Amino acid sequence: MTSEQAEGELARLADILNRANIAYHRDDAPIMPDADFDALRLRNAQIEARFPDLVRPDSPAARVGAAPAAGFGKIQHARRMLSLANAFSNGDVEDFVDGIRRFLGLAADSPLAFTAEPKIDGLSLSLRYEKGALVYAATRGDGATGEDVTANARTIDDIPSTLRDGPDILEIRGEVYMTHQDFAALNSRQADAGGKVFANPRNAAAGSLRQLDASITRSRPLRFFAYSWGDVSEPLADTQMAAIARLAQLGFCTNPQTHLCQSVQDMIAVYSAIEAQRASLGYDIDGIVYKLNDLALQDRMGLRSTTPRWAIAHKFAAERAWTQLEAIEIQVGRTGALSPVARLVPVTVGGVVVSNATLHNEDYIMGRDSRGMVIRDGRDIRAGDWVEVYRAGDVIPKIRDVDPGRRPDTAVPYEFPQTCPECGSPALREPGDSVRRCTGGMVCPAQAVERLKHFVSRAAFDIEGLGAKQVESFWRDGWIATPKDIFTLKDRFGPGQPRQLKNREGWGEKSATNLFAAIDEKRTIPLGRFIFSLGIRHVGEATANMLASHYGTWEALRTALQDAKDPESAARLDLLSIDGVGGVLADSLISGFAAESDEIDALARALTITPAQARASDSPVAGKTLVFTGTLEKMTRAEAKARAESLGAKVAGSVSAKTDLLIAGPGAGSKARKAADLGVEVIDEDGWLAMIGAL
Ligand code: IVH
Repeated sequence: MTSEQAEGELARLADILNRANIAYHRDDAPIMPDADFDALRLRNAQIEARFPDLVRPDSPAARVGAAPAAGFGKIQHARRMLSLANAFSNGDVEDFVDGIRRFLGLAADSPLAFTAEPKIDGLSLSLRYEKGALVYAATRGDGATGEDVTANARTIDDIPSTLRDGPDILEIRGEVYMTHQDFAALNSRQADAGGKVFANPRNAAAGSLRQLDASITRSRPLRFFAYSWGDVSEPLADTQMAAIARLAQLGFCTNPQTHLCQSVQDMIAVYSAIEAQRASLGYDIDGIVYKLNDLALQDRMGLRSTTPRWAIAHKFAAERAWTQLEAIEIQVGRTGALSPVARLVPVTVGGVVVSNATLHNEDYIMGRDSRGMVIRDGRDIRAGDWVEVYRAGDVIPKIRDVDPGRRPDTAVPYEFPQTCPECGSPALREPGDSVRRCTGGMVCPAQAVERLKHFVSRAAFDIEGLGAKQVESFWRDGWIATPKDIFTLKDRFGPGQPRQLKNREGWGEKSATNLFAAIDEKRTIPLGRFIFSLGIRHVGEATANMLASHYGTWEALRTALQDAKDPESAARLDLLSIDGVGGVLADSLISGFAAESDEIDALARALTITPAQARASDSPVAGKTLVFTGTLEKMTRAEAKARAESLGAKVAGSVSAKTDLLIAGPGAGSKARKAADLGVEVIDEDGWLAMIGAL
């Protein structure tokens, strides 16, 4: 992989992981199975490890959860709420334990105990008690700031509002969840009342806790397991096991399946035993969490930016089932991508009936991965085949394998269409792209409608009352063909017009007036959102915001993209100089604008696009690449990194010619030597704090 490819890939991963994060944590509407999310995060980490200089300021590795949604008050966590690193195999667990021994300088045969407990598939909550009284409850949010859900938490029976004793300050961390039984009953009540039916207990728990009206939360059967703590005015115990016992003593529910393990073998044995009982536990768990038992050792191990070094989540494998593939169908997406979908004979996988699964792209069907490597020993997938389906979360199941022994004689190799099934335009595959795309652009009805849906989506124009469903129906009736038509809806279907929105099925006077007002409200739009809304390939939310802050105004961006068509131009070099913009993204941007410049210009003219706020460019470290090494004594690494990034700096993991500044605490070793060799400026922690005005 070249550094340019790595850069492009990291940008793509940052974008997709960011969207997945927001969908999962903030909107309770996951867009990919957990296993895919984990795989993408792993790929991101691997690329970052190989190209530490390319680690992005918005690296998904440095993120836990998503920023809090609007509507709730914000609470800054006294101690960051962490996530957990993942182990996917017994080998990963061995590596985890070996790594801890190495870190602590312990011999392979010296005793070292771990707790093993179920990883509850709910949502984490932090409860702060002061002098025994619950003062607030906050969701994780992005780890630093969460949503204030105190009123809602008070309605949960498992959460005591006062404690009999315990430290003056006590932050309890744990998981809010819903049992299978309560989930089924809630969904059937919801269905009877014509309300929202939840996809799984986790979404139901999250949706129930994050209600602006606490009386709704009260009516929902939520439970809480305490498993950890944040800020405490005095230690709870010396060991994890004793601390959990203390939490139980204080009146919290703790998981009865918490075991003490003296070896990796013990840990794996608990994993297998609990996995075997998974279906009968009565609530969803997605793995086992191992924690170093000795709290003094936990302290010595410390934290990475978002995860503790002393704990790991050993994930269960995705659930699977065999079924027959009835047909392969093609869906055309916003960017014209032809995505093959497997229509399956319905089968239950992990308690959910699955009848569709993604087949990714034509290579996947043929038994090759996106790099052309053979998968499934090269076995192709055909209509009529028996296939193994898996789902790790609740969204889009996938096909893992195919059984050639059960292939019907009549099954023929799948021929991937060379023309778009929606509009008949040629469908082409660019070199290096695993996806075949329709070349019809806005002529293609599927692309047009998907583009419109993207345009009104939450991170784009986010027009209240105009969601995917409404857009599709307006589009079907020819009311809107392109985004700019949205802004003339009132002129064409408003008061006094021969055909009026208020007379349309499902609409009335009030909803029509509200929609027109909501559209008017979005005639003024921040530049970043506008760029994102255009739905240009590779331009996700993060990239759009980056472009916005680089160019400042729409006019500047517009001119730059026009000029950057010339590969030798200064404008192109400038575009490529933006952190996270590589050749692929630049080409996509330039051609995306060029292909629809008239349409985009007309849209821009109908709107007021507000300039992006300048970056924190007057801080002394803005735009600089920093590396922290050694021990920081006044703040944690995570805090130092977060602070540096909020001042516009990029924090890298290793020293290179690109490093501007090394902040070296006690114990700095090879990085400090390398910095000296390269002539990189080196300062200590106090120098750093003085530089950023924190002393
Ligand atoms: S410990 C400092 N224990 O899993 C470590 N987390 O993927 C804090 N979770 O954010 C977490 N069950 O929301 C811990 N028994 C358990 C857990 C657990 C579920 C969640 C928690 C965490 C996430 C990480």
